Amino acid sequence: MLVTEWPKSMEAWTRTKQSLAGGVSTGLRAQARPHPIFFSGGDGARLTDLDGNSYLDYVLGWGPNILGHGHPALVTAVQEQVVKGATYGSGHEYEYLAAEAVLSAYPSFDRVIWSNSGSEAAQVALRIARGATGRQAFVKFAGHYHGWTDPVLVGYRKGRADSPHGAESLGQSENAARDVVVLEWGDLTQVESALGGLDVAAVVVEPILCNSGVIEPPAGFLEGLRRICDQTGTVLIFDEVITGFRVDFGGAVAKYGVIPDLAVLGKAIAGGLPLSAVVGKSELLDLTQRGVVHAGTYNGNPIVLSAALATLGVLGQAGTYERLDALGQRLAAGIRDQLERHGIVGAVNQVGPVVQCGLGVPAIQNFSQFMAADSATYDLLLVELLRRGVFALPGGRWYLSTEHTERDIDATVEIFGEALAAIAPIKNKGQQI
Ligand SMILES: Cc1ncc(COP(=O)(O)O)c(C=O)c1O
Repeated sequence: MLVTEWPKSMEAWTRTKQSLAGGVSTGLRAQARPHPIFFSGGDGARLTDLDGNSYLDYVLGWGPNILGHGHPALVTAVQEQVVKGATYGSGHEYEYLAAEAVLSAYPSFDRVIWSNSGSEAAQVALRIARGATGRQAFVKFAGHYHGWTDPVLVGYRKGRADSPHGAESLGQSENAARDVVVLEWGDLTQVESALGGLDVAAVVVEPILCNSGVIEPPAGFLEGLRRICDQTGTVLIFDEVITGFRVDFGGAVAKYGVIPDLAVLGKAIAGGLPLSAVVGKSELLDLTQRGVVHAGTYNGNPIVLSAALATLGVLGQAGTYERLDALGQRLAAGIRDQLERHGIVGAVNQVGPVVQCGLGVPAIQNFSQFMAADSATYDLLLVELLRRGVFALPGGRWYLSTEHTERDIDATVEIFGEALAAIAPIKNKGQQI
């Protein structure tokens, strides 16, 4: 059945805009076309909206719901804890049980710091790096995202035209932006000269560039970063908010075997509940007891940590990552095949259960190719997918959960073909695809 309108979602959207700033709880959600859909519930790989439509979900809450919706292990853990109290403001058993579970996935490290969001965890990682080195600046790479806060929201997209230091947001501190050196991902020569001449505390990097194309690191790049950071006494931070517990149980660290000084974790770690972490060696992380301030009323919340323990228990089972990778490969191959069949130029990248599709470009191997993809036509495609029961992210990224099946993927690929056919008349009118 082809959905043509979403009256209850539309009504809810109109009403939400009367009270909630912008009508959405986080900025990018306003980009959804034709308008944000309002959901009443989810089950496994599916979501149901207020109008009663059912969707295969490839948004997964923008990544956290790696166990799909309503996974029994997660539900039981949360239900059992919530009746015992929401938060204690003091120690409890889940603090160390969940920390031990995280460290079992990241065995090179011996300490964990709990926080609530990826943005917060990235902040404490940078603060530790500055505290440890006594230096101020840090290096990041164009197109990489490390949260929305002042010190990192630089060099992510195009930057504000009127910002001298590449700040992305109105109201962002130019002083904070000035401390950031934005380099091209993959270029070790640039890193070498920046770290040789500047007062750089840390290099922060998405080890797989998930936020701009799901691009694997060029051969030798992560090793090169490790070497240069060692030579210059710079702290190497892997931002594994997307890749952690997703591309492998031990994230990109396990996948590539390069060990950073700190790794920032989020999203998948608690199966959808708000949790983030920094992992590293005690020499660095114990600085939080020697002058580096890290605080937060909700840090280490028992409901959230019980959810993390349950999530990691499921993800740690044998075969999880082989299966997630097989599902990712199946979806990527299916999308590629449909693009080819419809004579549409497009690029498809895949790492484990994360897939990227870009239209109008033959390959996405760097940030500029990602930015060159035809996002306007992709938005039209997203609406056609939605009308046919597939919910996917703007920008071309797809997330898969443990609850997606081969049948779900095959059905999705069919629908993808139908959606491409539906936008073909637009293409034939002369628009670029
Ligand atoms: C790589 C990366 N780092 C940091 C963040 C910020 O995480 P949060 O949205 O939980 O603050 C994100 C969010 O998408 C991310 O993708």
